[in-house]
Amino acid sequence: MTVSHPAPPTSDDDWWRSAVVYQVYVRSFADSNGDGVGDLQGIRERLPYLRDLGVDALWLTPFYTSPMIDGGYDVADYRDVDPMFGTLADFDAMITDAHALGLRIIVDLVPNHTSSAHPWFQAALAAGPGSPERARYLFAEGTGEDGELPPNDWESIFGGPAWTRIADGQWYLHLFDPAQPDLDWRHPEVRAEFEGVLRFWLDRGVDGFRIDVAHGMIKAEGLPDVGFNSMTTGQRQAELLGKGRLPYFDQDEVHDIYRAWRPILDSYPGGRMAVAEAWAETPQRLARYIGPDELHQAFSFDFLDATWSADSFRKVIDTALAESTIVGAPTTWVLSNHDKQRHVTRYGDGAEGLRRARAATLLMLALPGCAYIYQGEELGLPEVLDLPDDLRQDPAFLRTGESRDGCRVPIPWSGELAPYGFGPAGSELSWLPAPATWRALSVAAQAGVPGSTLELYRTALRIRRDHPALAADAGGVTWLEAGPGVLAFSRAAGDTVLTCVVNISGAPALIDGYGAPIAASEPLTGQGSGHRLPVDAAAWFERR
Ligand code: GLC
Repeated sequence: MTVSHPAPPTSDDDWWRSAVVYQVYVRSFADSNGDGVGDLQGIRERLPYLRDLGVDALWLTPFYTSPMIDGGYDVADYRDVDPMFGTLADFDAMITDAHALGLRIIVDLVPNHTSSAHPWFQAALAAGPGSPERARYLFAEGTGEDGELPPNDWESIFGGPAWTRIADGQWYLHLFDPAQPDLDWRHPEVRAEFEGVLRFWLDRGVDGFRIDVAHGMIKAEGLPDVGFNSMTTGQRQAELLGKGRLPYFDQDEVHDIYRAWRPILDSYPGGRMAVAEAWAETPQRLARYIGPDELHQAFSFDFLDATWSADSFRKVIDTALAESTIVGAPTTWVLSNHDKQRHVTRYGDGAEGLRRARAATLLMLALPGCAYIYQGEELGLPEVLDLPDDLRQDPAFLRTGESRDGCRVPIPWSGELAPYGFGPAGSELSWLPAPATWRALSVAAQAGVPGSTLELYRTALRIRRDHPALAADAGGVTWLEAGPGVLAFSRAAGDTVLTCVVNISGAPALIDGYGAPIAASEPLTGQGSGHRLPVDAAAWFERR
């Protein structure tokens, strides 16, 4: 059966509808001063690389003043740059250069919690129970005879109780690390402060925001128990993320916040956008974050969660496209980010994982909507699984034994020795060590090498940008019958048709009738009028 999904409309203010956004994990991208930590000047120096790669925008993870307990997602000053990453002047220079190269800049906003080093939290600790300073956070009395037990059974996403008791006996809420106290978003000063922060960065020219924990700011009135946690039933509450409701996530009132933010974004020229990192029980509830009076996009993590099977991808793609039609907003396609194991490794690691990752790239980049690429995926980087425990810095590691450090290892740029050009010439420092195998994966080792993963990305991004059938106003997805385990769909602009085929069938597939191949994740071999697409490979064909 042929199923069609219409394509969304577009205009220049709508650039984000079909953009390819490159996620820069600032700490690990490029180090300009040799201290072993990536910085804004490092990004600035590498902008030509990103322009040549062919992306439209960069999303920068937090670079604000921070004690770096959670990699900068613990912000102490929302209006300044941490000295580790540079200065506001470095930011201004970087965004000016980016815009001159045609690259837009999206910054990360962390509104659910501040750092415990934030002046507001320090004032709250000093001021005592019942004070106006405490009212901006979620302080509460404990339970038990002497208040020695937490106010409720809520659990931190990083493991353990979501409450920490302070010296005067009160407890404060932190859905993440104790160094990340949750703000009370029912407090008008909190709302006013973040509206000011939005304007601060909009005035500096940012093109958009990625909203961290966008589903978390409002907690159910009365802070009711969930009813279970790892201490009582052994089930972690975090397992419900994206599957069930929790009293501290996805509360209806959170939408009031976005309805107040949208007019601010719309009051600036040039299509300023916001994308939510939100987890909701159902795609329908996730879709509520998107719309002309709320946010522009929400990450759909279902594509990332799909298993390596044609059925799994087909189901996820169909659901995402159907949702996108209903809400009138583009789908976001994500394969990796700074919180998830890199997809080369998720798909089996080694040669097999890389092969599949390359095929998934051609699948993702042929779909209508906005694609998010995580730094290093264009090099085919795998997760670093064997980092020594004492070097791991993820705060979740100590509480859960799970660590996100393996996808945050600094990018290999060039050279024979680690850290492979991450810093200036001669610098040997990098905050996490790169494995020896990354010498062959560096940008310099892959640039200009036919068939390398970097060249595959460059080719695919160039075609995506130029090809009428992949343009934002081209046709939607039409699925084609291609046999079990083979995904095939086409998109068209007039008589020009581009067909993407992904072979997950476990045997080579004979492809015929879709025209000439214009990109392939593995070499194709000819057979009569058709082409043989190897196992775990994808290709784009064109017919004019
Ligand atoms: C988001 C970020 C993650 C961070 C958490 C707390 O999920 O992506 O890296 O640890 O929020 O801010």
